[in-house]
Amino acid sequence: MTTPQFIQLYQHNAAAVAQELLQGLSAPQAFTSPKYLYDALGSRLFEAITELPEYDLTRTEAKLMQLHSADMAQHLPPGACWVDLGAGNCEKAGRLLSPMAAGRYVAVDISVDFVRQALESLQRQHPGLHMAGLGTDFSGGLDLPEALDLDPTQPRVLFYPGSSIGNFTPGQAIGFLQSLHQACGTATNSGLLIGVDLLKDPAELEAAYDDALGVTAAFDLNLLLHINRLVGSDFAVRDWQHLSRFNAQASRVEMHLQARCALRVQWPGGERLFAAGETIHTENACKWTVPHFEALLRSAGFASTRVWTDPDKRFAVVWALA
Ligand code: AVI
Repeated sequence: MTTPQFIQLYQHNAAAVAQELLQGLSAPQAFTSPKYLYDALGSRLFEAITELPEYDLTRTEAKLMQLHSADMAQHLPPGACWVDLGAGNCEKAGRLLSPMAAGRYVAVDISVDFVRQALESLQRQHPGLHMAGLGTDFSGGLDLPEALDLDPTQPRVLFYPGSSIGNFTPGQAIGFLQSLHQACGTATNSGLLIGVDLLKDPAELEAAYDDALGVTAAFDLNLLLHINRLVGSDFAVRDWQHLSRFNAQASRVEMHLQARCALRVQWPGGERLFAAGETIHTENACKWTVPHFEALLRSAGFASTRVWTDPDKRFAVVWALA
């Protein structure tokens, strides 16, 4: 049996992380990058979110992949190198490797430790498939290192499910998708298989990001505990409440943490006063229509697309040829 190769590129730089966070917290409209929602507890809370009745995104995508896998296999190149972005437990790609006749698999996440166990178990199920784990922060763009020793003549399928593209603003999304286009390489028939949550009734969207059980609220509020650990601040969770707002003009759900009263937050070397009702903007979840998303892909350099949606057009899985 082949054993997976592991490459860790991302190194945590505590000073750079603190600087980025404090810059955002000190801005007139305070903000933080959504990536800080995912410490160990945040990742578990996100998994719980995917099981909530209000949040059907993950289930709808899984159904689409299952229902249309035979048709997908007609469009995607056989024998391709699958690059799984934000692989985590490798479950979503793992289900597709055989039906799509994958020729190689690269699981990408911020830390190889997040994919190690899942990749080793996937390797046992596919003993002949060359597999690798890559630990890199691809949120600013994907760079596939020489060390992976990818074959330039083998087509690549970049796999980005879960509508994580929605957590970028359209401007950031173009830059990110351009980097994916570049990472597709030069072999013919390479492309991007991506999941996108579609625009729907605002009330439903707001509920999906503010569920009755309060799991999303806990996910958002947990960010304050994570920030306290990262910058040494003294956020008190009970002083804040979670908000989910649909911003129609920007076609996105925004998550905010709102101060329940006027308060002061301190950290080594600095502080910020928050008025009652003032917010920290913690996440955008952009919702696309199929034509708008296809136009975005084209402006990032991708060519023709094939789209699979559910009958209610809640979610789309898009194959975009590079
Ligand atoms: C990871 N990402 C696609 C989720 C979303 O729907 O934007 C994160 C999330 N935030 C709140 N609920 C789920």
